Amino acid sequence: MERNLSLSMITVSLTHCLLLCLVVAATAAASNNIITDQQALLALKDHITYDPTNLFAHNWTSNTSVCTWIGITCDVNSHRVTALDISQFNLQGTIPQLGNLSSLTTLNFSHNKLSGNVPSSIYTMHTLKFLDFTDNQLSGSVSSFVFNMSSILDIRLTNNRLSGELPKNICNYIPYLKALFLEKKMFHGKIPSALSKCKQLQQLNLQFNNLSGAIPKEIGNLTMLKGIYLGYNKLHGEIPHEIANLRNLEALALGMNNLVGVVSAPIFNMSTLKIIILINNSLFGSLPSRIGLSLPTVEHLNLELNRFSGTIPSSITNACKLTLLELGGNTFSGLIPDTIGNLRNLEWLGLAYNNLTSSTSKLSFLSSLANCKKLRSLNLIGNPLDGFLPSSIGNLSMSLETLLITNCSISGNIPQAISTKYLFQNN
Ligand SMILES: *[C@@H]1O[C@H](CO)[C@@H](O)[C@H](O)[C@H]1NC(C)=O
Ligand SMILES: *[C@@H]1O[C@H](CO)[C@@H](O)[C@H](O)[C@H]1NC(C)=O
Ligand SMILES: *[C@@H]1O[C@H](CO)[C@@H](O)[C@H](O)[C@H]1NC(C)=O
Ligand SMILES: *[C@@H]1O[C@H](CO)[C@@H](O)[C@H](O)[C@H]1NC(C)=O
Ligand SMILES: *[C@@H]1O[C@H](CO)[C@@H](O)[C@H](O)[C@H]1NC(C)=O
Ligand SMILES: *[C@@H]1O[C@H](CO)[C@@H](O)[C@H](O)[C@H]1NC(C)=O
Ligand SMILES: *[C@@H]1O[C@H](CO)[C@@H](O)[C@H](O)[C@H]1NC(C)=O
Ligand SMILES: *[C@@H]1O[C@H](CO)[C@@H](O)[C@H](O)[C@H]1NC(C)=O
Ligand SMILES: *[C@@H]1O[C@H](CO)[C@@H](O)[C@H](O)[C@H]1NC(C)=O
Ligand SMILES: *[C@@H]1O[C@H](CO)[C@@H](O)[C@H](O)[C@H]1NC(C)=O
Ligand SMILES: *[C@@H]1O[C@H](CO)[C@@H](O)[C@H](O)[C@H]1NC(C)=O
Ligand SMILES: *[C@@H]1O[C@H](CO)[C@@H](O)[C@H](O)[C@H]1NC(C)=O
Repeated sequence: MERNLSLSMITVSLTHCLLLCLVVAATAAASNNIITDQQALLALKDHITYDPTNLFAHNWTSNTSVCTWIGITCDVNSHRVTALDISQFNLQGTIPQLGNLSSLTTLNFSHNKLSGNVPSSIYTMHTLKFLDFTDNQLSGSVSSFVFNMSSILDIRLTNNRLSGELPKNICNYIPYLKALFLEKKMFHGKIPSALSKCKQLQQLNLQFNNLSGAIPKEIGNLTMLKGIYLGYNKLHGEIPHEIANLRNLEALALGMNNLVGVVSAPIFNMSTLKIIILINNSLFGSLPSRIGLSLPTVEHLNLELNRFSGTIPSSITNACKLTLLELGGNTFSGLIPDTIGNLRNLEWLGLAYNNLTSSTSKLSFLSSLANCKKLRSLNLIGNPLDGFLPSSIGNLSMSLETLLITNCSISGNIPQAISTKYLFQNN
C-alpha cells in the first residue's frame, strides 16, 4: 500500500516534472525563436544607412519587445513575427538575409530607396504569402532564382532595377500565386509558357519591360485571370485566340508592342472585359456589328494607332459604361453614329485620323454629344467632316478641356462659351 502510494507519488511528480520540463523546453524554444526574430530584425536595422524618420533609432530598440516595434506584427500565441511592413519610410540601405524570420507571412518594403540585391533567402521562405518591394532601387538578375515560397499569393517587384530573363520555371513551386507584378524593369527574353502552372493567377502585370517573343498561348489555361497587362514591351506575333477562353478577364492591356494580325469577334465578344488597350500595334480587323451588346461592361476601349477598318457600329452606343473610346489613327470610315451621345459616361472620345463622316451637315453626332456632360476631350482632327458646328456644343463648356477639330471641314459659329476657352483653326 505504502509502496504503491510512494510509487504513484513518484509517478505523479515524474509526470509533473515531465510536463514542467516540456513547458520549460517549449518556452525556451519559443524565446529562442523570438530572439532569432529579434536578431534578424536588428540585422535589418544595421543595413539601413538612411532613416529620415528615425524609425529604427528611436523605435526599434533591443530593450523593448519586437512585437511593439513599428511595422511589426506578431502572432498572439507564439509571439513570432508574422508581418514586417516598413513601407513608405524613405529608407536607404540594403536588405540582409531574412530567412530566419520563419513565421513571416507579409513582407512589405514598398516605396523606399533600398538598393542592392534581393537576398536569396526570400525566394525560399515557405510561410510568406505577400511580398511587396514595389518602388525601390533593387538590382541584379532574378533569372537564376528558384521561386520556392510555397505559400506565396502575391509578388510585387514593380519599379526596381532588376534585370535578366524571367525564370523559366517561375511557377513550378508557387502553386497558389494570385498576383504577379513585375512592371518597370529591364527584364528581357520571353514570357515563360510555364506561367500556366500558376493556375490561381488573377493578375499578371509585366508592363514596361523589354520582353520579346510571342504571348504564350498557354495563357489561355489560366482561367482565373482577371487582368493581363503586357503593354510597353517588344512582344510580337498574334494575340493568342486562347485568351477568349478566359471567362473572368476584365482587363486586356497589350498596347505598345509589335503585335500583328486580326482582332475581331472572339476578343470583342468577351462580356467580362472592362479594359481593352491595344494601342500602337499592327492589328487589324473590324468591329463586330453587335460590339456594344457583346461588351456590356467595357469602360476603356483603346485601339489607337493600328490598322482597324470598317464602320463604327451604332451598337457601340449600348456600351453605356464607356468612359474612354479611342479609335484614332486607324482607317475607320462611314458615319459617326448620331446616337453617340447615349454614352453618357464618356470622358474621352478620340476619332482623329480616320475617314469618318457625319450623316448631316448639321453634324448631328456633335449635337448628341452635348448630352455627355463629363466629356473632357474630343478629338476629330483629320476626318472629312463637312458641316456646321452645332450651337449645343456650347453646353460642354463646363467639362471640355481639349477640343481638337482642326483639319476637318467644320464651319459655323463657334459658341462663345467654347471659343473663349479654345483656339480654333478650321481649314
Ligand atoms: C539565423 O539563425 C541562426 C541560429 O539562430 C544564426 O546562427 C544565424 O546567424 C542567423 N542568420 C542570420 C542571417 O541572421
Ligand atoms: C514604437 O512605436 C510603437 C507604435 O507607434 C509604439 O507603440 C511603441 O511604444 C514605440 N516604442 C518605442 C520604444 O518608442
Ligand atoms: C531603450 O534603450 C534606448 C537606447 O538604446 C533608450 O534611449 C530608451 O530610453 C530605452 N527605453 C526603455 C523603456 O528602457
Ligand atoms: C504594402 O504597403 C503599401 C502602402 O504602404 C500598400 O499600398 C500595399 O498594398 C502593401 N502591399 C501588400 C502586398 O499588402
Ligand atoms: C523547395 O522547398 C522545399 C522545402 O524546403 C524543398 O524540399 C525543395 O527541394 C525546394 N525545391 C527547389 C527546387 O528548390
Ligand atoms: C531591349 O532589347 C533590345 C533587343 O531586343 C536591346 O537592344 C536593348 O538594349 C534592350 N534594352 C534594355 C533597356 O535592356
Ligand atoms: C494549356 O494550353 C495548351 C495550349 O492552349 C494546351 O495544349 C494544354 O493542354 C493546356 N494544358 C493544361 C494543363 O491545361
Ligand atoms: C459571342 O458570345 C456568345 C456567348 O457569350 C455566343 O453565343 C456568340 O455566338 C458569340 N458571338 C461571336 C460572334 O463569337
Ligand atoms: C508606336 O510604336 C513605335 C514602335 O513600334 C514607336 O516608334 C512610336 O513612337 C510609337 N508611337 C507612339 C505614339 O507612341
Ligand atoms: C473614305 O470613305 C469613303 C466612304 O465613306 C470611301 O469612298 C473612301 O474610299 C474612303 N477613303 C479611304 C482613303 O479609305
Ligand atoms: C443645351 O443647353 C440649352 C440651354 O442652354 C438647352 O436648352 C438645351 O436643351 C441643351 N442641349 C442639350 C443637348 O443638352
Ligand atoms: C489632314 O487630314 C488628312 C486626312 O484626312 C491627312 O492626310 C493630313 O495629313 C492632315 N493634315 C494635317 C495638317 O494634320
